[in-house]
Amino acid sequence: MHVLGIESSCDDTAAAVVHNGGQVLSSVISSQDEIHSRFGGVVPELASRNHLMQIHPVVAAALERAGCTLDDIDLVAATQGPGLIGSLLVGFSYAKALAYNRGLPFIGVDHMAGHLLAVFLEQEVRFPYVALIASGGTSSIFLASSHTQFMHLGRTRDDAAGEAFDKVAKLLALPYPGGPHVAQRATGGNGQAIAFPRAWLDDDSLDFSFSGLKTAVLNHCNQQRMQNQQLAIDDICASFQEAVVEVLVEKTARAATLHKVDTIVLGGGVSANPRLRQAFTDRCQRDGRRLHIPHPSFCTDNGAMIALAGYHKFREQGGMSSDVDVYSRSMLG
Ligand code: KG4
Repeated sequence: MHVLGIESSCDDTAAAVVHNGGQVLSSVISSQDEIHSRFGGVVPELASRNHLMQIHPVVAAALERAGCTLDDIDLVAATQGPGLIGSLLVGFSYAKALAYNRGLPFIGVDHMAGHLLAVFLEQEVRFPYVALIASGGTSSIFLASSHTQFMHLGRTRDDAAGEAFDKVAKLLALPYPGGPHVAQRATGGNGQAIAFPRAWLDDDSLDFSFSGLKTAVLNHCNQQRMQNQQLAIDDICASFQEAVVEVLVEKTARAATLHKVDTIVLGGGVSANPRLRQAFTDRCQRDGRRLHIPHPSFCTDNGAMIALAGYHKFREQGGMSSDVDVYSRSMLG
């Protein structure tokens, strides 16, 4: 079964053709980083306008690179939510119209389900597993029991991990999106140089809070400036990154222990972070757990993970009618 997957939840217009929920025939992504970079964050109106311009060429390129036409497509899947409503509407409406016009079944997919399953684009993973999804919009821990059953164990209370990376980058005058730039500068710094706080919340909480950490970085920078000290940007990036990584690793490991699960999966843009990948590798080795992390290109937003999630959802519940709508907050688990 060839599935066309369409993703437009935030600032990437993406489409992919995936065969039988695993074999990626093509994956095309049009990034809007350049458009939003001068504002230091995503401007929703600009994002949806750009999706409108990109959606058709991106889908056409995905079909061409897969060596197929719409005649070869068996199912159209699109991100239904969560995300920016204006952005979601472009990809979702395009996908619905395409499916209706071609007489194809259509399925709306939760963006988080895409991240939770992205690892299957490269390898088989045994259920159940605990997954950390850390991106610009969320830091969440899920228990995945099948391709369609997910339990939400912990969530973002304020800034998501990626959002914290982006905001810290902004206050250090690093380019947008900040995550990769902070990670790059951190390689030259000392992660123990500045004792930034770790928000553990309640003893057994699996929720995350990174806004206090972001404020601590801001306060540190202000103090340094007031004392006419030059900012040690590499050390700030490394110490901030260390604080984020420690909390993400510790809480995910805690969730796995609590639910007696011996497999951990990562997903979302922040899981492209080399320090996070290394810290999880070390921790899972120490705890005797299996760890699966997608290739960085499947950690960030892409259409292939939507095609994959759509394939499994469709096999379980069939297609959706065309009167379904998008949603801004995750409905998953
Ligand atoms: O999953 P994703 O592509 O989509 C959204 O949530 O929109 O994640 C994007 C987020 C951004 O906040 C970006 O700064 C962050 O992931 N990110 C990283 C890295 N690469 C991307 N954060 C830390 N280290 C990285 N290497």
